[in-house]
Amino acid sequence: MFLSEPAREALRKSQNIGILTGAGISAESGIPTFRAKDGLWSKFKPEELANIQAFMRNPKLVWEWYQYRRNIITEAEPNLGHHALAQWEQQHDNFTLITQNVDGLHARAGSQNIVELHGNILRNRCLTCGNVSEIEEVNFKGTVPLCTCGGMLRPDVVWFGEMLPPEALNAAFSAAENADIFLSVGTSALVHPAASLPEIAKSSGAFLFEINLEPTPLTPYADAFLEGPSGEILPKLLTQWQTERTK
Ligand code: OAD
Repeated sequence: MFLSEPAREALRKSQNIGILTGAGISAESGIPTFRAKDGLWSKFKPEELANIQAFMRNPKLVWEWYQYRRNIITEAEPNLGHHALAQWEQQHDNFTLITQNVDGLHARAGSQNIVELHGNILRNRCLTCGNVSEIEEVNFKGTVPLCTCGGMLRPDVVWFGEMLPPEALNAAFSAAENADIFLSVGTSALVHPAASLPEIAKSSGAFLFEINLEPTPLTPYADAFLEGPSGEILPKLLTQWQTERTK
């Protein structure tokens, strides 16, 4: 993998490492991204399904979309990109992994310091009593699942128009501000506030790497744009980091 001398120097000197991942890192595990043009659900925009108004209007449709995603996710396995990040964390103390993904694959790969910005699809939350439960406890048979209190259950994810969990957001901003290298991996860099994290990191002095199959709105700001699948690029970047650290 070609890396410029400034990129190698940034790896060599890195103290605080911040990472933001999006749906692209899980694409090689077989989980469809949100804005892909193909697939069963491509006639809907994520904004049209992932919001409370859509849910109240047609909870069954929104649940079908989430059940479809859940079924794929529970069958999926972490890929080489997830594993590279988990290994990287084991080898470096100040390492914060911020993810927009709700699939839990980073944790399954062994990452520990994970900031989940958009919740987790494998949990439910009751609209009435707020109780959070694991999906195993739900009896879902094509209808809308209900809480033991009788309230309607929803997936415990953040929808458009909703606040991100404040603790997670603070942890993410602080990791971005303190990072001296920051990686934006497999995200279209469109959905705020997550999309502003790489810019915050860069304006606070971090060297910004972007890994994606194609350029995004973030690419003009990236110090190094590494084009290709994250499952190939991340293991190479980890090896390069290890090499630079021995110099
Ligand atoms: P998107 O679906 O918007 O973008 C996925 C990005 O990953 C695109 O830029 C792809 O080019 C890139 N990509 C695809 N495969 C890749 C691979 N193998 N390696 C590297 N890059 C790859 O997903 P997000 O940016 O995560 O929010 O979307 C952000 C948020 O919008 C999601 O968290 C979700 C969605 O609506 C909510 O549900 C609130």
